[in-house]
Amino acid sequence: MTSYLDHGAATPVRASALEALVGASATSGNPASVHGAGRAARRLVEDAREQVAAALGARPGEVVWTSGGTESDNLAVLGLYRAARRTDPTRTRLLISAVEHHAVLEPARWLAAHEGAQLTELPVDGDGVLDVDVLNAQLARGGVAAVSVMWANNEVGALQPLEAVVSAAARHGVPVHADAVQAVGQVPVDLASSGLAALSVSGHKVGGPQGTGALLLRRGVALDAVQHGGGQERGLRPGSVAVAPVVGFAVAVAEAVGQQPEQAVRLAALRDELVTRVLATVPAARLTGPSDGPRRLPGNAHLMIDGCSGEDLLLLLDAAGIAASTGSACQAGVARTSHVLAAMGVDEEHSGALRLTLGHTSTRADVEALVDVLPGVVARARNVRQAGAA
Ligand SMILES: Cc1ncc(COP(=O)(O)O)c(C=O)c1O
Repeated sequence: MTSYLDHGAATPVRASALEALVGASATSGNPASVHGAGRAARRLVEDAREQVAAALGARPGEVVWTSGGTESDNLAVLGLYRAARRTDPTRTRLLISAVEHHAVLEPARWLAAHEGAQLTELPVDGDGVLDVDVLNAQLARGGVAAVSVMWANNEVGALQPLEAVVSAAARHGVPVHADAVQAVGQVPVDLASSGLAALSVSGHKVGGPQGTGALLLRRGVALDAVQHGGGQERGLRPGSVAVAPVVGFAVAVAEAVGQQPEQAVRLAALRDELVTRVLATVPAARLTGPSDGPRRLPGNAHLMIDGCSGEDLLLLLDAAGIAASTGSACQAGVARTSHVLAAMGVDEEHSGALRLTLGHTSTRADVEALVDVLPGVVARARNVRQAGAA
């Protein structure tokens, strides 16, 4: 039996979302068509839009369907920057945190390399939390087109001080985007009360179908489209809407958000037990990221284990029936160091990173299974490393 401890990469599809996805798959009309079949499809899409909006504190007109977190982040970073600069050519600066997911980092760096954007990657502390004083100082220099700071970090689970970020940016009339891909379903996420201009969501992190997502874009915020075609999604994201996946996505978001308060308590307790027991049985392990619960995603545990490589740990855990990760799934298989850990000042040369993430299907048995095998896995991973160095 496999213990799945990688919900941060993808969480299993919820039964309700699967049922809705399958049910809507019989729909044959294009929601943009005027005939009855088109209208029936459009009704499903618009009901789904209302469902997502209601769950995340947005108006239906503020929900833009995308194919997932990466597309939402690209649309936000490229679109907010270009729209701001187009209306005010002196706004050439872009501020992001140094621990953003590559889905934010890469479009921001692309703007710097190809469109003359002046990019500043803002520092974080040893827990991975943004330094708001530096953000304030950077905003005070003027010329900022947009700010992007994630709601919660995907590697070490650090929640970012978004309230402070939004109020600082508001003083300079600068729109803020937050990548909330890891946050939705784990902590309360609400567009209206956040004051954010835009917020990214991904389907496969909340128990929805893979290849689904949304960008929530506050009414009145200027954003340039990235792709061009028909006028779907108010021209912001043209292309025929994928009716059944969108329906499944909306059901997943509603369920994840509805269950969030009780899941947060349940997962934080499980996570704390996992951390306590691992630290007690594996002396070489230490917790990375915020140690106090309220500053961390409830389902996230991130450990550095001395004398091991993260890759060896993952392979040995996999062989023992435990699915884990070193950090971002998008980096898996690519042996490069983590920019998140580097920004936090964490040494990766002498220790391996292990990310264990819990979600809606996690149980105590998953924690038991990990605690049973981890000491042996760590011993073997150390032997492998020592043999490699000899
Ligand atoms: C914080 C964060 N942003 C963006 C993404 C990319 O989302 P998607 O896989 O839906 O493209 C991920 C995926 O791991 C993530 O964790």
